[in-house]
Formats: sequence, structure tokens, C-alpha cells
Amino acid sequence: MPKKRFDPLEALATTPLAKAVASSSIGKSVATKLGVPPSVELRRGRNNPGGAISLAELNNSTLTRRTLQLLGLFTINPVIDTPDARTLGEAGRPVPPGYEGRLGALVLDLTELRAVTDLEYVRGVLRPAIRALERSGRIIFVARTPETFDELEPRVLAQGLDGLNRTVAKELRGGATSNLVWVDPETTPQALASTLRFLLEGRSAYVDGQSWRVGAAEVADDVATSVRPYAGTIVAVTGAARGIGAAIARTFARDGATVVGVDIPASGEALARVVNEIHGTALQLDITLPDAGERIAAHVAERYGEDARLYAIIHNAGITRDRMLANLDEKGWAAVLDVNLAAQLRMNASLLDGRAGGLADGGSIVGISSTSGIAGNKGQANYATSKAAIAGLVRAMAPRLADRRITINAVGPGFIETEMTAAIPYLQRQIFQRSNSLAQGGKPVDVAETIAYLADPASAAVTGQVVRVCGQALVGQ
Ligand SMILES: NC(=O)c1ccc[n+]([C@@H]2O[C@H](COP(=O)([O-])OP(=O)(O)OC[C@H]3O[C@@H](n4cnc5c(N)ncnc54)[C@H](O)[C@@H]3O)[C@@H](O)[C@H]2O)c1
Repeated sequence: MPKKRFDPLEALATTPLAKAVASSSIGKSVATKLGVPPSVELRRGRNNPGGAISLAELNNSTLTRRTLQLLGLFTINPVIDTPDARTLGEAGRPVPPGYEGRLGALVLDLTELRAVTDLEYVRGVLRPAIRALERSGRIIFVARTPETFDELEPRVLAQGLDGLNRTVAKELRGGATSNLVWVDPETTPQALASTLRFLLEGRSAYVDGQSWRVGAAEVADDVATSVRPYAGTIVAVTGAARGIGAAIARTFARDGATVVGVDIPASGEALARVVNEIHGTALQLDITLPDAGERIAAHVAERYGEDARLYAIIHNAGITRDRMLANLDEKGWAAVLDVNLAAQLRMNASLLDGRAGGLADGGSIVGISSTSGIAGNKGQANYATSKAAIAGLVRAMAPRLADRRITINAVGPGFIETEMTAAIPYLQRQIFQRSNSLAQGGKPVDVAETIAYLADPASAAVTGQVVRVCGQALVGQ
């Protein structure tokens, strides 16, 4: 029999204390008395770190330097901690060198990592950088996708960086993050630019300890460097009336898109408020209707003309009907699978069939998975099935859509502060919020920014990926 995996969140949330004080007012005062420290305010938005960006290049790698140059970013050389570079401090102990000012980010180009002995260079540049990193600073590893190596040593070393990245992310403090980008030998600076920029900027605030792949695609210089990538495009967002969906709609509108907000008729008023604010249009629609995709396309064609096409569809609408499997009836099972999965499959099929108002070639699809889906979660058999399926869907569809240059990706949110999660009792919510490396819950905008990065025309080389927006949650790593 397989051993049951230890789930730290479950263990914490089910302690007698947590259960006893889970109801709100008592829980709140207990947390206050325990003196839970307030979490660090994360740097958010389209802005770079305040301090310097240091670039470490191993052997002959230049991809990252050329990418940062394309983005107009100035870099400094890293300080290297080697026995030779150490001076003796007052107590006669060696003192590693440090940066003079605050360090905003250290970007390590390790695409030419070849031998185990090269790893000493990696340690040597990381140590002083970690000490000097500012709040919400960044460590970014750029490495070759392990499967693209024939030789054994570079391949296993590239894989080893995954463990290093995850550990660095856990050790960093003050809202700083560490992430790893895998690149292919054919990846160009233009194809890598959107990812490096996203990781450096505050847009990636709640993405921590993650790794994903940037492949090859042709991206023009002006596309790679645009800060209003959605100008002139139409983007549909399901479940746009509130929560994460409303944040997605606002983020795409900020970046130039005309947004078609979709939500159930019962949320009509809230939906109207969101789309009016961003000059989009509303479509009251239950996405589980068999012809939901056709209706979205018809709305686009009617409102924006027969030649209009959707640039992107963001499948955000999702529901939970939590019950232990022993108590889960047919209705609770079917409702979740229909909204979270089957509706998406149907809508994709009709939006991709070339009809007026459907998805344009060169466009993008983004779905929402979940850490619960990836790790499994007690009481969420239906939800976890649907969300793991979304991760499978993007991996399966990416190669099929490559001919049409359509990308398909998903985000995997962890604990995000929305109405969905506000229903969780106070103390349990505190535990969930803090059980990640950033010791706080994410905001809807964190998920929205990651989706907007994935759907960006500049991210044409990013497809079939699931990027978690979870602050490196303890669950589902
Ligand atoms: N909040 C979190 O912590 C979290 C974590 C992981 C994943 N997610 C996922 O993110 C997405 C958004 O979550 P949220 O927290 O903003 O949820 P929410 O409940 O606040 O909002 C969901 C929206 O979807 C709409 N919707 C539901 N069923 C619909 C249908 N049949 N047709 C059209 N619209 C429908 C709702 O009316 C609502 O406006 C969901 O897919 C959810 O599973 C959320």
C-alpha cells in the first residue's frame, strides 16, 4: 500500500487548538496574543527592483546579458565570495565580500553549467548577494532545460539547480523571491525578454521557488519590449464579476486590451460595474451551456465586427463544492467538473474552429489550475480532479496548437484572498496564509499579472507551462 503523504497544512489546520479557535473572534485574539508578526508588504506592479541588478555569467554564456541589454537594463558585476577575496575581520574571522549598496536582483546565467566544479562559482556569487538583497529583491537562475543536453553531467546539474532554487526561495527573507527559468539552445533574447522582465518586476510578487520553460519562437524587438502588449486586442475573461476574474479584467485593460467580461446572469450587476470601469463589454452567460463558446464568439462578432477575433480567452470561472468523498453526491461531483473542466473543453473546441469572433491564430489560452489540484486536498476530490486536469490540458494541447502559434498555459494559485477563501474560518485562514515562503496570502492581482505575462504576445515561446502563484506554498511542491 502506498504510504500516506504528510500534509503539513492539514496537520496544522486540524490540531485541537486550531479547531477549537477556528471561529473568528476567538481566533483573532489568540493570533494577536501569540504575536504573529505582520508580513512584509510585497513590491507589486510594473516596476524594477530599486537596487542594482547584478549579472553573473558562467563560462561563455551571454544569452541573459543580451536579453537584459534588449530590455535596456543596466547591470553590475557580481561580487564573488572566494577564499582569496575574503579579508580578515576584527575577530580574525574571514569576512565574505559584500555589495556596497542595496542589491535589487542577482541574475545568474548558468546556461553553460557543465561540471560539478562549476557549482562553486554559483555558491560564490550567491552568498554575498543573498546577504545584500533588498526587500522584494530577486534571485533569478537561467539554465538550460535538462532534456536538451545529450551529455550526462550538464543534464543532471541543470536538474540540480531546481533543488538549489527551491532552497534559496525558502531561505530568502523580506519578500524576496527566487525562480528558475529553463531555456532551450534555440531560445533568443527576444523570446526570453518577457520572462526576465516579469520576474524582475513587481508583477511576479507572489511567484516564488518556481521553475518553467521558455522555448523558441520568433518575437520582434518591439513586441519583446512593449509595455502595453494588448493594445488593439480583444480578450475574454470568464468569471469576471469578482475576485481573481475582476483583477484579470482590470490588468488586461491596463495593458491595452478591450475586455469581454463573462459571468452568470445572477452576477450581472457586479459584472457591469467591472466592465464599465475598464470600458469593456459584458456577456451574461453560464459557461456550462452547451453553446457557451459559440455565444462568446457571436458576442465578439456582433460588438466588434465580423472580422474581429479574440486574441485570448482566460478561463477563470471556477467553483468549489467541498465534501469528503464519502459524502459527495452525484450533483456536487458533476457541478464542479462541469464548470471547471468540461465547459472549458467545449468552449476551446468552438473558439478554435475558425468561426467569426473565435480565437485568432497567434493568440493565447490561459486556464486556472490550483495547488490543491496538484497536491490533492481532503474534501476536494471533485475540485482537485478538475484542477489537475487543467494542468494536463495545457500540456496536451500546447503541441497541437503550435502550428497556429497559439500558446496555452495555466496558473496554479495557492492561497489568494478572495470571497472564495474569505469563507474559511479565521485561524485556519491564518495558517493557510502563512504556510508559504512569503508568509502571506496572495492578492488577486498577483494571479492576474502572471496570466497577463503568459498571454503576452512577447511570451510566444512560453507554452504548455503551469506557473504556480503561491508564494512557494508548503503544499503541492
Ligand atoms: N481564491 C483562491 O485562493 C484560488 C486558489 C486556487 C485557484 N483558484 C481559482 O481561481 C478562479 C477564480 O477564483 P476566485 O477565488 O476569484 O472565485 P470567486 O468565487 O470569487 O469568483 C468566481 C467567479 O466565477 C463565476 N462563475 C462561477 N460559475 C460560473 C459559470 N457557470 N458561468 C460563468 N461564470 C461563473 C462566479 O459568478 C464568480 O464571479 C477559480 O477557477 C478558482 O478555482 C482560486
